[in-house]
Amino acid sequence: MSVSSFLVDRLHADRVGLAALRLLPPERAHAVALALLRRVPPPGRPPTPALARTVAGLAFANPLGVAAGFDKNGEVFDALLAWGFAAVEIGTVTPRPQPGNPKPRLFRLPREGAVINRLGFNNQGHAAVARRLERHDPARGVVGVNIGCNKDAADPVADFVAGVEVFASRADYLTVNVSSPNTPGLRDWQAGERLARLLDAVLAARDRGRAVPLFLKLAPDLDDAALDTVLAAVAARPIDGVVYANTTTSRPTVLHGRHAGEPGGLSGRPLAASTTARLARIRATLGSERALVGVGGVATAADVRAKLDAGADLVQLYTALVYDGVGLARRLLRDLAAAERSGREPDGGAVRAPTSPAKSA
Ligand SMILES: Cc1cc2nc3c(=O)[nH]c(=O)nc-3n(C[C@H](O)[C@H](O)[C@H](O)COP(=O)(O)O)c2cc1C
Repeated sequence: MSVSSFLVDRLHADRVGLAALRLLPPERAHAVALALLRRVPPPGRPPTPALARTVAGLAFANPLGVAAGFDKNGEVFDALLAWGFAAVEIGTVTPRPQPGNPKPRLFRLPREGAVINRLGFNNQGHAAVARRLERHDPARGVVGVNIGCNKDAADPVADFVAGVEVFASRADYLTVNVSSPNTPGLRDWQAGERLARLLDAVLAARDRGRAVPLFLKLAPDLDDAALDTVLAAVAARPIDGVVYANTTTSRPTVLHGRHAGEPGGLSGRPLAASTTARLARIRATLGSERALVGVGGVATAADVRAKLDAGADLVQLYTALVYDGVGLARRLLRDLAAAERSGREPDGGAVRAPTSPAKSA
């Protein structure tokens, strides 16, 4: 039996498959995981009608989405939807293809359930990703495109505008990403006159084409004052929602292992509590009409429920896929659906009132 057929056989028993993948360097393991996703027949999304919701005018079969960065080039969104996720955010995509930062640039921190990455928007560019999106069938689920600018962009605003122009007609929603830490200067677009200029430009581009929902993805490293300024800029404009949050450049907990000191964006468990705590503030400022997507350290149904209870309409995850595999979606859905039925918290905690109807934006 070849190594690859062994891995294919084992994907369903995915903890064994994962153990094999974990023997590979992280970026190689990711490439193999994408190849397996393309080859292994998915089990199909379990029906969970109680978890369905409408957000930003889009119908989501459940609140779970794959966060940007896992399917950067739009190669496996169909498979991820068929493994149970209601949505996949592909990208970040930049106008021109770019290789990203020198390797190694992706590091596992298993003890913390975390990852550090400094990939730097390695992606195949607008044209290649737009071609793959032609096979997107909205009946299978929601596919968003996360847009960015090239590292060497002469005019970053023009790169974002090009992203809107190319993907507005192809994606179910777009996310403007000004929050990745690995493109020098990108996060500066989260503030002041630059943010206003960028938002006005992408909104004007949207007005010229299809009225696709437009989200803004933020870094978890903004202090309260900076966050409030961004949210005020969003609230003053017809931006449909906020995705909170990207990876952090801070090191909120003591990290262990030989990669603990690597520079880059930290994701996974260490982000869970702090990103959830911030959601209530964002929801209070944005009001109930805007969509809020909670991201950061989600690995259990209790994590999903915590983000929803804090004000999120939808939840995304990435790092938990590295440790738990794509079968995680079905396990989370089973636990969430069971909790809905029993009226209990997913971790078996206190009885709560029946779930409120899905928020819609
Ligand atoms: C390896 C890796 C690559 C990522 N690439 C992107 C990206 O291209 N664009 C983006 O907006 N976020 C990217 N992210 C951030 C995730 O979308 C997410 O916001 C963050 O990892 C927190 O969620 P998690 O703790 O569930 O991973 C990436 C994360 C990881 C781990």
